[in-house]
Parts: sequence; C-alpha cells; structure tokens
Amino acid sequence: MALGSAVCASAQPAGRENWNKGWRFSKDGVSRTLNLPHDWGVEGVFRQEYPGETGKLAWWGQASYVKELDVTADDLRKDLRLEVDGAMSCATVLVNGHDAGGWAYGYSSWAVPLNAWLREGTNRIEIKLDNKAESSRWYPGGGLYRNVWLTRTARTSVDHWGTFITTKVEDGRATVYQQVTLKTDRPQIVCVTTRILYQDPVKDGRQVEHVVAETRSVTEAAPGHTLIQDFALQHPRLWSPETPQLYIARTVVESADGTTDQYETPFGIRTAEFRADGFYLNGRKTFLKGVCLHHDAGALGAAWNEDAWVRRLLKLKEMGCNAIRSSHNPPAPELLDLCDRMGFLVMDELTDTWTYPKKENGYASLFDRWVEKDLVAMIHRDRNHPSVILWSIGNECGEQGDPTKWYIPRLLTQICHREDPTRPTTAGNDKPKAAFTDYASTIDVYGFNYKPHLYREFKAKHPEQPVLGSETSSTVSTRGYYRFPVEQEKGKGWTMDPPFQVSSYDLYAPGWASSPDYEWQFEDQVPECAGEFVWTGYDYLGEPTPFNMDPSVLTNFHTEEEKEAYRKMVAGWGQAIADVPLPSRSSYFGIMDLAGFPKDRFWLYQARWAPEVPMAHILPHWTWPGREGEVTPVHVYSAGDTAELFVNGVSQGRQVRQGYRFVWDQVVYAPGKVEVVVWKNGRKWASDAVRTAGEAARLVGRVDYSGKELAYVAIDVTDRVGTLVPDACPEIAFSVKGPAEIVATDAGDPTSHVPFYSHTLPAFNGKASVIVRRTGPGTVTVSAQSKGLKTAKIKL
Ligand code: GAL
Repeated sequence: MALGSAVCASAQPAGRENWNKGWRFSKDGVSRTLNLPHDWGVEGVFRQEYPGETGKLAWWGQASYVKELDVTADDLRKDLRLEVDGAMSCATVLVNGHDAGGWAYGYSSWAVPLNAWLREGTNRIEIKLDNKAESSRWYPGGGLYRNVWLTRTARTSVDHWGTFITTKVEDGRATVYQQVTLKTDRPQIVCVTTRILYQDPVKDGRQVEHVVAETRSVTEAAPGHTLIQDFALQHPRLWSPETPQLYIARTVVESADGTTDQYETPFGIRTAEFRADGFYLNGRKTFLKGVCLHHDAGALGAAWNEDAWVRRLLKLKEMGCNAIRSSHNPPAPELLDLCDRMGFLVMDELTDTWTYPKKENGYASLFDRWVEKDLVAMIHRDRNHPSVILWSIGNECGEQGDPTKWYIPRLLTQICHREDPTRPTTAGNDKPKAAFTDYASTIDVYGFNYKPHLYREFKAKHPEQPVLGSETSSTVSTRGYYRFPVEQEKGKGWTMDPPFQVSSYDLYAPGWASSPDYEWQFEDQVPECAGEFVWTGYDYLGEPTPFNMDPSVLTNFHTEEEKEAYRKMVAGWGQAIADVPLPSRSSYFGIMDLAGFPKDRFWLYQARWAPEVPMAHILPHWTWPGREGEVTPVHVYSAGDTAELFVNGVSQGRQVRQGYRFVWDQVVYAPGKVEVVVWKNGRKWASDAVRTAGEAARLVGRVDYSGKELAYVAIDVTDRVGTLVPDACPEIAFSVKGPAEIVATDAGDPTSHVPFYSHTLPAFNGKASVIVRRTGPGTVTVSAQSKGLKTAKIKL
C-alpha cells in the first residue's frame, strides 16, 4: 500500500521538506516507482499457510528504496539530513554507496546526517531494509511505512529534536520554559529569539497569529550547547481533551556569520499529575477512558495515513474515549499531533519485550544494543506533545517475575526521568505476584493487564503509588454474529469450527480476559484507579484469538509438549481444524471491526464513558427465520435508569439498571419489531428499535468519512423498506467515476482472504466499505453493485 499521505506538523525546522514522492522500490527482483508511506505486506494476498498471528500477509523479506537527491553549491553550505519516521525494519542508508547510518527497530523515528557523502549534482540515496520473519506477535507491516523528510538547516541551528518545553501553571498565570540544544560546528556567539504564539483557526484561507511572549538570548555556543529560555503568560489557555488549545514556540537562531535558521515547536499548557488517588489534569480528577491501538489502519495496513486516523479518532471521541495507548511501540509522530489537536491523552509505549524473548527475532534480540537509543529517540521526539502523559517502558515483559532482572525497568525509568523529569513511567504488567514485590517500585504508575481484582489489594499494599488498568477486558466478538443459547461463561461464545466467529453478546473472552462489565465492577470499588486502556479500540491485522492457534503454524507453540497437547485436544474436534490451519487473519478484540464499523460494544462503552448522551442500543438483530418460538435473549446498553422492552408491542417487563446492560433473557423470538424505551430521572430519555428484515433488495451507501485525500464510503445491504439485512453477504462490485481511484475495500470479516486491493468483495453481515482517493478536483461518484440488488451511487 503506497499512500503518499498528507501530513500535519510536529516540532521541526523550517527547512524540512516532505520526501515521500517518487522512490524506486525493489523487492524479490521486481522494481517499481511509488510514493511513501508504503507497506509492501498489505498489498499482497492472504495465504492460508501464512501465520494468522501476523495477518496471513507476507510482510517479511529484504527490499530497497532508491531516490535521487539534487544538491546545489548552496545546499553544501548547509547541513542536510534524512529523517525517517519509521522503517520496518533494520534500515541502512547508503549515500552514493557509502553507509551513512540506519536504525534497527521498525517503530522508532531517526535521522542520519548526509553531508559527509554528498557532492554537488545528483546523489543516490538508498534505504535498504531487512525485515525478519518471527519478529512480531501481530502484523508489523514492511517497508518505509511512515513519512520520510529531507531537512536542510544552517550550520548553526536548533539540533534535531533540539527543543524541550515544560510549563508551570499557577494562579491563572503560566511560565513556559524552553530548553534549546544548538547544533554548531564551532564555538561562536549566537542569538536565539523565541516567540510564543497561538493561531486562530484558519478563516477564509487566512491564518491570524498572536504573539503572546518573546525572549531573546545571546550566548556563546559550542557544539551541543544547551540554553533555557522562559516566558511569562497571563491567562493561558489550558490544553485538555475538551479544549485542545495549542501554542507554538518559534525559535530563530542567528549566528555570528549572519546565517539564520528557524525551528517551530507546537506545545500545550497543562498540568498532568498522577496522585495516590488518581490522575489529575489541570487540577481536576480525570478518569482515563482509554483504548489500546496497534499501528495498522485495517485495509491500509501499517502505512501511515492522516485521514484514516482522523476517522478512527473521531469515532473514539464519539464513544467518550479520552485516551490512547500506543501498544506496544512508539506511534507515528503524526498520531500524536492528532491527539494534541483532537484532545486525547496518550500512554506512549516503547516495546513488547526487554531481554526475555517472545519471538525469536523480536525486540529482545535488539535490546542490549538499542534500548537506550530507542527510548531516548521516543522521548526526545514526543516530549513536547501535551497529549503524552505517560512513558510506558514495556508490555508484559517476562522480567517482572525475575528479581535478578529488575535493574532493567529501574534503568529504563531512570533514563525516562533523566530525559523528561515531568512525566512518570508505567508498564503493562500481567504477572499478579509482581505487583506485591519490589518490582512494583521500578515504575512510577503501576499498570495492571487484566487484573482488576487486584486494584484494591495493590492500593492496600502501596497506598502512595498510583495504579491503572494498562490493558483491560480483551472481550472478543464479531460484528453482527450471535450464538444461542446465550451462555454466561466467558469461553462459550465460539467453537473451534466454521464460521470461526465469536458471538457479539460481549460476554466472551479468552482465559486471561473478561467482559467490560467485569472490569468495571472493580473500577467502581477502587476510586483510586486512574483509568483503563481497553484491548482494543479497533480490530487489527494478526492475533486472531481465539482462532490464533493454527496447528500447522508450529511457531505458535513454544515447546514440543505444548504442540502435542494441542494436537491431542483438536483431534476430538473433527476435521475442521485437526489438520487444516484456521482461516482467521485479524483480531476479534476491537470495539470497532477492521473496516471501522462499530460492534455492539461501542454502545456499551459509550453508555459508561459518555453517560450524558441519550442513547439506548438493542442487541441482537431481529431477523431469525427458524427461531420462531425460541428463547432469544435481548440485551440493551444504556446509561438510563430504567428500561422497558416490547416485542411487537407486548411489554417484556421494566428493569432497573445495574451496570450499563439491561438483560431480558427469556424473550421468545417472533418476527416483527423489538423496541426499548429508557427513562432517566423519571423522564423518557432514549429509545431504540430493531425490525425483522425482509429479502435483500438494495445497496444503500453513505459517506462515512471524507478527509483531505481519502473518503470512506459505507454500504448497507437492506430490504425494500431500508432495514439492514443483518446476515447478508452478497458479492459487491465497487467502481468510481471522476477524478478518484479505489485504494482498498474491506467488510470487517476476520476470516476473509479477499485481498484489500480487490474492487469486489462479499459484504459481511450486511455491510461493506470502500476507501477512495481523490486524484484531482471535481465530482466523484462511487457505485456499489450487486446482482439482483438496487445499485448504490454516492457522490463525494
Ligand atoms: C495481552 C497482550 C496484548 C494482546 C492481548 C490479547 O496479554 O499484552 O498484546 O496479546 O493480550 O488479549
């Protein structure tokens, strides 16, 4: 997937230019020209024999990207560097054939100076990648999958990631401190002027800026020299998820020889504090209503795209979510820009392993040589983002249980404090005993993965240490799929047989995990718990638990014994999977499916996280030919006080809310209409109704999201009167007229092997989606056609 995405701004010098266009990509003997960001894995086909754990796509291998750089005599008087936001993985940069540096970890951002090998005229820049198999527990993607930049700065200027802004707020006034690290080739007198400004929203194409403070420092600078500037601001506009107000520090460096260079650092003014009894933002206790997210964007794979992520974040906002955990690695820097601008709090995470390996070629094999560099890169890149409130130094690292290895988290926490004294560290911890040993003191904020029953005990043992749910729930479900009878036991939502889907009653989870409701009981009992990060906001490529155990993919088993035990277990299950690998290639954990359609759980979280939104949501759907007369439990998600359910006008009883789920488990199915009315404080507050659908008759389309470059069009398969046909899976053919092209299609089915580049695909449980890229100005019409159904035409 080559996206050539639009970009938004992080801290950067004025001479930074996007360098995504026109790379010559070569892999396996084939070359072509493309634009970045590019993920070679997601452009391929799904293969049954590839591991479901990493998405059944071929993301591994060696490849090279080549681009020419024209250099003028004037350029050679400057410093040129290549900045790479992420290269998957093990990158080496060759400048005219000379090794100029590189970086191993695919999720880090890094830069290499180019001057040593440049000459006037045409220069050849090559980035070689070596993406090793057996290096990830999820789909990592492959290639230059984030933005690449070319930066020209004066010899004397702000260094790469050379600013660090901290703020203090007191009595309605703020002090802003900016630490500036200078890059210069010789000691000299320099003048550094910084203006603090804020920008009004763009109006009629014009941007009005207001300068609110200014400081000028004259200093004798040597290479690596650091100075601190401070600014007093009256009546600062504080940053928060509800008011994501940003400022910019614009720094101009003038050197003795008359060159000037400019550097801009966006920042926010806010106080963020973890106290013994929770998290406080600007002095107000704020519960972290968070989700964990992997880095892929579904059908676009790992390739960064701003539109895709704006769409995702908007949906999360609507749900009441206010926090993101970038599991289990540093995100694209632009994701943090979006979190700054749209108002999300971020747990920025380094890695999935320290020295105890989870995969043969995973981060453990890089740890000793790279961890300090990767951690410092993450902090220097990200420490000016007001959205970032926590550094997570690792996820479920095996060392938790090994006292001889606790120096590792201690050291990583020290590095974080050294590089950023303003933010605490945390880690995602799964070993229950670790919380009650000295290990707990190696991090500042204790993060529990799936152990809500320990929050209280933890606080009793460590009354001063803040605690949160770093990873919660891991409920699994498939959008629009329900199984009967509805059993309460968490392992009873699926069987290891076709169709390899999980019932969407949101009661089901693997052994270590739980329903959302279970987690909340404990959060409610322990008000000191600072928040939670649900696994996960969106389905992602790979890790299709509970269908993640292809018996043919031996790497799923750590030992011969494990493999044998699994073989024995499946032998009894008949031929479905005894010898055949499972088809699943993407996760079931998401609150939204891979295509971005909400599953029922969306409304369960909305009820808890945005209880002020008048809302009631009924499940399951009400089209069950053959179930007439059978018990078909109805659940309703709502934050109302009482609710009454009606089936074809007949009351099924009124209920008082406990948690956020009303349950009528004796409802007998009869086709027609099921309806709920919800009251709050004695008043009618919200309602929902679901009708039995007739035969599929039409495709109905709508623009789900339209961004700078991409538009997402969603299709419903409906009957003649517009009711969604909830199990319809007709083949849909997409086409576009006008200046646009189809980028990808998806319907959110975790077992689908239709490549994302296909223009036709079966709808999944009544829905499908297409991603279209505009290629010029003018009207674009997207059509969705299916045999025997009325065509949908959607104008962009
Ligand atoms: C956790 C792990 C996550 C994911 C999740 C699935 O233990 O940290 O990466 O694997 O389980 O439930």
